[in-house]
Amino acid sequence: MSIAEKFVSMEYGPAPEDPKEAQLWLDRHGRKFSHFIGGEWHTPEAGEYFDTVDPSTGDKLASVAQGSSADIDAAVRAAQAASPNWRALKPHLRARYLYNLARLVQKHSRLLAVLETMDNGKPIRESRDIDIPLVARHFYYHAGWAQLLNQEFPEHEPCGVVGQIIPWNFPLLMLAWKIAPALATGNTVVLKPAEFTPLTALAFAGLCQEAGVPAGVVNIVTGDGSTGEALVTHPDVDKIAFTGSTEVGRAIRAATASSHKRLSLELGGKSPFIVFDDADLDSAVEGLVDGIWFNQGQVCCAGSRLLMHESIAEVLLSKIRDRMNTLRIGPPLDKAIDIGAIVARVQLERIERMVAQGIAEGATCWQPQVVLPSRGFYFPPTILSNVHPTSIVAQQEIFGPVLAAMTFRTPKEAVELANNTVYGLASCVWSENINVALHVAAQIKAGVVWVNCTNLFDAACGFGGYRESGYGREGGREGLLEYMEPKWFKRAPKLAAALAPPHSESQEMADSSPPLIDRTVKLYIGGKQARPDSGYSMEVRSRDGALLGEASLGNRKDIRNAVEAARKAESWAKATAHNRAQVLYYCAENLALRSEEIARRLASAVGAEQAKREVELGIERIFSYAAWADKFDGAVHNPPFRNISIAMNERIGTVGVICPSETPLLGFLSLAMPLLAAGNTVIAVPSERYPLIAADLYQLFDTSDLPGGAINIVTGYVSQLLKPLAEHDDIDAIWCYGDDATVASAKAMSTGNLKQVWTNEGRAIDWFDPSIAEGRWFLEHATQVKNIWVPYGE
Ligand code: NAI
Repeated sequence: MSIAEKFVSMEYGPAPEDPKEAQLWLDRHGRKFSHFIGGEWHTPEAGEYFDTVDPSTGDKLASVAQGSSADIDAAVRAAQAASPNWRALKPHLRARYLYNLARLVQKHSRLLAVLETMDNGKPIRESRDIDIPLVARHFYYHAGWAQLLNQEFPEHEPCGVVGQIIPWNFPLLMLAWKIAPALATGNTVVLKPAEFTPLTALAFAGLCQEAGVPAGVVNIVTGDGSTGEALVTHPDVDKIAFTGSTEVGRAIRAATASSHKRLSLELGGKSPFIVFDDADLDSAVEGLVDGIWFNQGQVCCAGSRLLMHESIAEVLLSKIRDRMNTLRIGPPLDKAIDIGAIVARVQLERIERMVAQGIAEGATCWQPQVVLPSRGFYFPPTILSNVHPTSIVAQQEIFGPVLAAMTFRTPKEAVELANNTVYGLASCVWSENINVALHVAAQIKAGVVWVNCTNLFDAACGFGGYRESGYGREGGREGLLEYMEPKWFKRAPKLAAALAPPHSESQEMADSSPPLIDRTVKLYIGGKQARPDSGYSMEVRSRDGALLGEASLGNRKDIRNAVEAARKAESWAKATAHNRAQVLYYCAENLALRSEEIARRLASAVGAEQAKREVELGIERIFSYAAWADKFDGAVHNPPFRNISIAMNERIGTVGVICPSETPLLGFLSLAMPLLAAGNTVIAVPSERYPLIAADLYQLFDTSDLPGGAINIVTGYVSQLLKPLAEHDDIDAIWCYGDDATVASAKAMSTGNLKQVWTNEGRAIDWFDPSIAEGRWFLEHATQVKNIWVPYGE
C-alpha cells in the first residue's frame, strides 16, 4: 500500500514491541524456573514442573516448579528466620530496600512489561503504561511509609510471616500491592503467584537479589491451588492476604477459621457502571472502554454491569457500538492493540459458556465484525443488552470483555440495581450534576466509587470490597493496617475456656409455681422489651450460687426479629455524627445518674469492687465514643492524577456482637459503643455469666433518645445464638469475644456469606485499661473505608 493510500484509509500497520530481551532472559534461565527461597533458587522437593504458555499463541514459554507442602515449609522457615532482623531493622534501612526495588522496577521496566504481556496476553500498551509504572509507584510510596513507620504507628508491630496468594490478571501489580506494604511494615513474605502467570514474580525475585534484600525476606513459591492451600494451612504463617475468586476466598476463610491467622480477602465483583441522562456521554463511552475492555475485562473491579438512564439508553448503546467497532483486537505485543488474549483456554471456555447462557436467558448479543487471530485464546468485545437483573450475566463475574446492559428510570432505582448483587467492590457514576453523583456514591455499597472516571488505581488510595467482594484494604494508610497489630495484642494472655455459666437449667416462664425472685429480664428488640420466642428463661446465679434472677432464653427467631428491627433503624444510620455524639453523651449521663443502683446489682455477680470500676469506666467509655463520633474522620488521598480520592469511614451496617462474659457492663459498652458511634446498628448478646445486665442497659438506652432498633439485646447461650447471628445474610459483620473454640466457630459459621469477623482471637482483653480497650483500633473495625474518586484540579 502506498503512503497516499494509507493516508486515505488510515489503516494501522503492525507495530510490534521487540520481545528479544524477554526471550534472552528466558534463555538465560534455561526456560526452567525453581522456587526462590531464602535468597536462592531452590529446586522443588518433588521435582515437578508445569508449563506456562503464551496465551496469544498457545506456545510454551517455560517450565515452572510445582510447589509442594515441603517447598512451602522451606519458604516459611526461611521467612521466619529472616523475620527478627527484618522487623528490627531501622525503618530508614527498610525504606532504602524498598526504594531500591522501585528503582530496579523502573530500570527493568521494558523487560517486565514484555514478559508480563507474553505470559498474560494483555496489550503491551497496558503493561508498559499502566501495570509496570504502578508497580514502581507502589514501591516508592511504601518506601515512604517504611521511613515514617515509627513516627506514625508507634504502637504497632508487624504480623510476622505473611502468606500471599495472587491471581493472574495483574501478576506483577498484585505482587507489588501485596509485597510493598508487607515489607514496609516489617513483615517477611512467602508469595505464590498464579499458575498461569508466574514469570514476572520470578523476575522480581531476581530484582530482590539485585537490590540486596536480605535472604528470606521475600520468598516466591510457584504452583497451583494445592500450593496455595499448603501456604494457607501452614501453622507458622501469621497472616494470609489473598486476591482471587470469591469461591477460593471462601475456602481460605474456612481453612483458617480455627487458626489465629489474620486474613484479608480481595475477591470478585460485578461492578455497576451507572450513566445518568445528564452525563457527558462521549466521556462515559471512553470510560466504559477502560471499564470493561481494559485487560480483556479480566479485572475484579471491571464495570461489567452498565446501568443506563432509560431516556439515553438507545443513544448511548449506539455510541458504544460505534466505539466498539474501532477497538483493535489481536497480538498483545502490538503497540496499537486494544484487546489482547484471554489468559487461558479454560477462561475462554468459561466466557463462551456464560455468554451463551446469558443469550439463552433472553439477552441480545452484539459484537463488532472482527477477525480473531487464528491461534491463541481470543474473545471479541461483547455487549449484552435486554439483560434481566437476575440473569447469570448480571449476577456472576464473567471475567471477560463482556458488558451486560440494563436501564433504570430514577436515581433510586439505579442505586437499587447497583446494590442488587452479592458483591461490592467498585462502581462508576457518570453525571455532570455533582449533587446526583455524590448522593448516589454515598448509597452504593462498594469499596471504590469512581465519579466521572474509571479504573483509576494508586498506591495512596485504598482498594477493597464490601460484602462478598472481601474485606481489608490495599493501598493508602488503611492498607498498612492490614499488616500490623497493636503491640499488646499478641502478648495478651489466653482467655480461659468459657466457664459454663453458673446455671443453665431453664424453666418455662409461664410456670405456675411462684417465681423465686420477681426479676425476669426480657429481650430488647426494636426499642421494646420482648418475650422470647421459646418462652423459656435461664437462671442467673451469683458466684456463690445464689439465684439472682432469670434472663430470657433467646433463639433463632428472636435473632431474626432483632435483625429486622436493626435494619429498620434507618434514623440511626442517617443521623449526623453530631447527633450520634449527643445521644451517646446522654447515655453516659444516664448511666452516671443510676450508677449506684447498677453497681449494686452488678456487684452480686462480679463483686463490689469490680462492679464499681465497671460502672465508672463504663461512663468514661461511653463519653469517649461520644467524643469520637464526630472525630473519626476519613482522609483525602492525593494520587498523581487530576483527581482526589475521598476516603470515607463508612458504617459497616448491622453488626452482631458476642459480648465478654467476665465484665458484663464494661465489656458490653466497649464493643457496642464504637459500633454505635460509627452509625452501625447492633444486635448484642450480653454476658452469658450475668445477662441480667440487659435490664439496666435497656433502661439506659430507652431514656437516652437512642432510636428503637439501633441496639437490640438478645440474652441466651452463645452456643445457641452465635450460629443464627453468623449465618444471617442481613448481618454485615460479627464481633465475637470469647475463647478459642468460640471465635473459631464464629469464623467458620460466617464463611457462607463471607461476612467480616473480628474477634479477640481467644485472648483476654483488659477492658479496664483504656489504652487497650478503647479508641481507634475499635473504630477501625467498626467502619469500612470507601474511596470516592472525583476529578479535581487543573
Ligand atoms: P482462583 O481464585 O482459583 O486463583 C487465584 C489464586 O488462588 C491462584 O494463585 C490460585 O493458584 C490460588 N488458589 C486456588 N485454589 C486455592 C486454594 N484452595 N487455596 C489457596 N490458593 C488457591 O481464580 P481462577 O481459577 O484463576 O479464576 C476463576 C475465576 O475467578 C475467574 O474467572 C474470575 O471470575 C475469578 N477471579 C477473580 C479475580 C479477582 O481479582 N477478583 C482474580 C482471578 C480470578
